[in-house]
Amino acid sequence: MPDRARILIVDDEDYNRKLISGILTRQNYSIAEASNGEEALKQVEKFSPDLLLLDIKMPGMSGFDVAKRLKANDDFALIPIVMVTALSTLGHKAQALELGVDDFLTKPINVAELIARVRSLLKVRAYYKHMKNYQMELEIEVEKRTEQLRRSMEKIKAASLDTINRLSMAAEYKDEDTGAHIQRMSNYAAAVARRIGLKDQSVQAILYAAPMHDLGKIGIPDRILLKPGKLEPDEWKIMKQHTTIGAQILNESSSAFIRLGKVIALTHHEKWDGTGYPYGLKGKEILLTGRIVAIADVFDALISKRPYKEPFSLEKSFAIIEENSGAHFDPEVVRAFFTVKDEILLYKNKYHDSESRRKRRMTPFVRPEQAVGLDDKLHMV
Ligand SMILES: [Fe+2]
Repeated sequence: MPDRARILIVDDEDYNRKLISGILTRQNYSIAEASNGEEALKQVEKFSPDLLLLDIKMPGMSGFDVAKRLKANDDFALIPIVMVTALSTLGHKAQALELGVDDFLTKPINVAELIARVRSLLKVRAYYKHMKNYQMELEIEVEKRTEQLRRSMEKIKAASLDTINRLSMAAEYKDEDTGAHIQRMSNYAAAVARRIGLKDQSVQAILYAAPMHDLGKIGIPDRILLKPGKLEPDEWKIMKQHTTIGAQILNESSSAFIRLGKVIALTHHEKWDGTGYPYGLKGKEILLTGRIVAIADVFDALISKRPYKEPFSLEKSFAIIEENSGAHFDPEVVRAFFTVKDEILLYKNKYHDSESRRKRRMTPFVRPEQAVGLDDKLHMV
């Protein structure tokens, strides 16, 4: 059984209220009464009527005052109001219509007319309530689906980034002393990019794409990649190919991160003065992302321990970066790098090598002597 419709009868005369109340109770409506305007407003809040039968002329607040207050309140504005009055001049009707009153009944009450008007307005009210509920349910459903979609997209993005990261780690696995290198250098690069003024989205893209910079090392033979001594010129030539091999692996991807990864793989060894590789690009011919990643990658190589060198001190590493401003590095990028020095040091401490060494000890199929940091030979300035 649906709830009975609720009707509030507002009239200062007891007789009138009882009369209308009696008629409508017999029609199986739920009835509440108020004998003045103030009481009517309280009852509206308490009783939540579906319809108001409102006398115009009452002591204190008039029916017009009550209607005005209700129509001005978003919570109650859509409750239908029927003005019940002996006053039926055109002026009163116009005033009531202007306030948004829905209908009129003239005293003395005609029972059939009262029942017909009430029934008709309650139908409209029921339809409105149904539509409102439907709209609310729809909004909740849309919100729920949107949230589900957002979570799914986040999961897909996280899975995609995780895959990219693991692929990058796979490339670093043989020759880097530590997988923490890619975490540090990508965070340095993002910090510098943010300082230069790139938008958040671009900064984030650099953070996710920078780990792919050395992906092409997958294609370098172990005898060269893992050679403990100095590389011969022909070996060096092959080693340099890790840039173009990386770009080939990452070519024509539908993912924006991977497309940026390709740019980074191809340009992270180019130098501002044109003496880098693979193409010897000069100055702004090298895309900004490449210029940023170059400094992040070299700085991390300088401060890191390698089998053939102890880490350089921070002072020395910073000095080398400074000295190479305008030679290896874009001076503007160097300036940005130094202004985020504190942030760089935070990342250096956060992603330290010990964690990665511990992981490597737990991995039985890698011989310690394989963990040779030949990459430094590519990066050292
Ligand atoms: Fe590299």
